[in-house]
Amino acid sequence: LAELMLDAAGADTRETFARIRTHMSPGQGLGQKLMGRNAVEVSGEGAVVTLSNGREVIDFGSYGVALLGHRPSGVVAAVERQLAELPASTRVLANTVAPALASRLVELTDPARLSRVWLGQDGADAVEAALKLARVATGRQRVLALRGGFHGKTLGALAVTSSTRYRSSLEPLLGPAAHIADDLADARRELARGQTAAVILEPVQGEGGVRALDPGFLEDLVRVAREAGAFVISDEVQVGLRRCGPVSLAVELGLDPDAVLFGKHLGGGVMPISALVCSNALYAPAVHDPFLHSATFSGHPLSCAAALAALDAIEEQAGRGAELAASIERELEALARRHPRLLVEVHGLGLAWGLEFTTPQMAGEVLAELAPAGLLVSPCLGRAETIRLLPPIVTTDEQLAAAVDVLDSVFRMVMPG
Ligand SMILES: Cc1ncc(COP(=O)(O)O)c(C=O)c1O
Repeated sequence: LAELMLDAAGADTRETFARIRTHMSPGQGLGQKLMGRNAVEVSGEGAVVTLSNGREVIDFGSYGVALLGHRPSGVVAAVERQLAELPASTRVLANTVAPALASRLVELTDPARLSRVWLGQDGADAVEAALKLARVATGRQRVLALRGGFHGKTLGALAVTSSTRYRSSLEPLLGPAAHIADDLADARRELARGQTAAVILEPVQGEGGVRALDPGFLEDLVRVAREAGAFVISDEVQVGLRRCGPVSLAVELGLDPDAVLFGKHLGGGVMPISALVCSNALYAPAVHDPFLHSATFSGHPLSCAAALAALDAIEEQAGRGAELAASIERELEALARRHPRLLVEVHGLGLAWGLEFTTPQMAGEVLAELAPAGLLVSPCLGRAETIRLLPPIVTTDEQLAAAVDVLDSVFRMVMPG
């Protein structure tokens, strides 16, 4: 039976991969073909994805979208209810879901300081909104970002993303932006040049290798940014909303950011949506002119319904998240001790972990073997020697043990003895 399924799936997927090769990105298609060993993804439930040949894999990847696992029941039900009523907004009329989501995000993030919300569709457009508002609100143009930071690939967001791989063919990018090391002297020097509208940072750099910035440095950076009259934007698209524990890492650290950005798992892994949660001062230009930054699908009711249900589910399961995080940390540290010739170190927080290999080639080899062996992970877009594990909050103890077994056996395979 397994062979029959494989044959049948093989026939179907040959056409799919030919379409990708012909009409989409051949390189991406080839990667997906190798990862799936000719099969494609067809369904998902919780931490498990099923392929067209019937094989099941544990999903610790999905670039962070599946914090609640695949098709979380509360989110699916909320989307179905909204779909039966009004999935898209007329935009000239108000609906109840977008404002309900805005209130809920304010309540969860930092109600005393951050009372305004702009809703987008992906991480990069939340970044764009924050940068535009900071420039208009201050009348200044420069933005400071951190080396190793990732904020998306649209032209504006790319100006603050640090990886040369994505920037070099496009330079000069929009607006004056500078990248600083996580070093206070560097920050001071750049701020002294004046005209800085905002500093954008990720408290834990996700694509940069799941690297937590030093809280003491962040505190100092925020202080000097404030002194220079710049807004502080905490991009938590990947690591916020309880991926790493708190709703906002910056708020939890007492940094009092002027804006926190959410995305990825905000839509419960079902709908695309992002949010900028910010202070009145940063949002002021949009109060002055509501059309300064509008978009057809901003506040899309179907996405907002998904996000409201996702926030409930994330809050309900926060306790399990903390328990799982402790087990993962223990397991990964033991794994690093068993494979010292392969792993330089493991580092992370909560449900986001980076496995840092001796070379990018070694990381690539492991990555290529993990999916066929039964575990999906994500590469780091800004650090090729690090592989990311982004396990869903709904991962069972058995699934975690199975995932660790896959890692262990793939490590033994690529580096025998
Ligand atoms: C911290 C951070 N900001 C922004 C983005 C861009 O998000 P999107 O790919 O949804 O545009 C990402 C994506 O990985 C991210 O990790």
